[in-house]
Amino acid sequence: GLRVGRVLSEAGVVTLDPGFTNTGSCESSITYIDGDRGILRYRGYPIEQLAKNSSFLEVAYLLIYGELPDAATLEQFIRRIQRHRLLHEDFKAFFTAFPHDGHPMAILQAGVAGLATYYEDTLDPRDPEQLSEAAVLLIAKMPTMISYIAKRAAGLPLLYPDSQRGYAEDFIRMTFGMPYQAYDIDPALVRALDMLLILHADHEQNCSTSTVRLVGSSQANLYASVASGVGALAGPLHGGANEAVLRMLTQIRDSGDTVQSFVDKVKNKAEGVRLMGFGHRVYKNYDPRAAIVKDAAHDVLTRLGKKDDLLDIAMELEGIALADDYFKERKLYPNVDFYTGLIYSAMGFPTKMFTPLFALGRLPGWIAQYKEMAEDPATKIGRPRQVYIGEAERSYVPLRQRS
Ligand code: ACO
Repeated sequence: GLRVGRVLSEAGVVTLDPGFTNTGSCESSITYIDGDRGILRYRGYPIEQLAKNSSFLEVAYLLIYGELPDAATLEQFIRRIQRHRLLHEDFKAFFTAFPHDGHPMAILQAGVAGLATYYEDTLDPRDPEQLSEAAVLLIAKMPTMISYIAKRAAGLPLLYPDSQRGYAEDFIRMTFGMPYQAYDIDPALVRALDMLLILHADHEQNCSTSTVRLVGSSQANLYASVASGVGALAGPLHGGANEAVLRMLTQIRDSGDTVQSFVDKVKNKAEGVRLMGFGHRVYKNYDPRAAIVKDAAHDVLTRLGKKDDLLDIAMELEGIALADDYFKERKLYPNVDFYTGLIYSAMGFPTKMFTPLFALGRLPGWIAQYKEMAEDPATKIGRPRQVYIGEAERSYVPLRQRS
């Protein structure tokens, strides 16, 4: 709840709102969420319709520019992105500077920030052309970067982008394909990945997006701001949850304990275990994305002919939790990431690559929110206040006089 802090002499009354549960940081016309009714819309379009009918790059355009593009505009946008998917050759050495098993989110964060050094004529957020170019460069190069990180972690050769292939398709090829070998991808899997990227594309003022805006409010460039968003997303309470869900399901399976006993452990809170992939700050009914992902998980696993005992555990876990008063009272439902890891894993992505996939999906949202902030005349540098609860003034005690 909202508490009013102490009266500060120079600032008047300061609202104290830990976690900003009641504080709006901006006006925005990008994404609408009604957490009680389980509604999510991008620029007015229901997420269900976009997930079913649209493509990730079309949704990226919609989020960034506010309208669905006509065919020619979309074609031009896609071509612009396709043209820029190569990374500078020098940049390849960058990936070898990290331990091969370093966490991909740390490498991605550094890589995104480092792009600013190659494209210094795209750094000014007050120049619409520079901003538009930076947006295209980021959308174009992030999949290449993520596939390089995955390949290096596996000790396999890197592949250059193929501009004749679609965005999600070529990302899969670069991540799993080998040089001089044809790589045929099941279009249904490409579509599933594209759809997951759409579902992650924006979610108004979540932790990473607020971070992007806060960093950007100092007129830091888009690369620096998005890199900060990648850092925020890496946390296990945010984007890192998809990875944590899979670890949790694997632990339950390997422990030999029943699913019910795991739920009991979560409920008694003694070990500080949470049911990962459950609960959401805003959705207190259900997360509309979770329903779509659950169906997709079934489709993809069936398509691949994979029987995954982790999916069975996930469904049992969901069933028990949804019927349990602890979860009902606290309005805890599966969120978008409860089932995504199962799909990524069935597609062959190692667990550590799950959160970079989230980052790739969230990128258009970060860009759209940064752009909206940069264009809003009401934007001021973000600078929250605090309620000081430390010592009153006291005098320095020389070291030898301290006991
Ligand atoms: N498992 C068990 N108990 C939970 C869970 C959970 N996943 N989530 C919340 N609770 C409990 C809390 O212990 C608390 O109980 P109490 O009232 O008895 O103290 C109550 O529910 C409220 O929890 P808060 O932490 O205050 O809720 P908040 O809105 O701050 O947190 C969050 C939301 C971070 C998503 C939380 O539900 C959580 O940690 N979930 C697990 C991690 C996760 O899946 N994160 C992904 C979020 S979605 C995304 O980033 C795409």
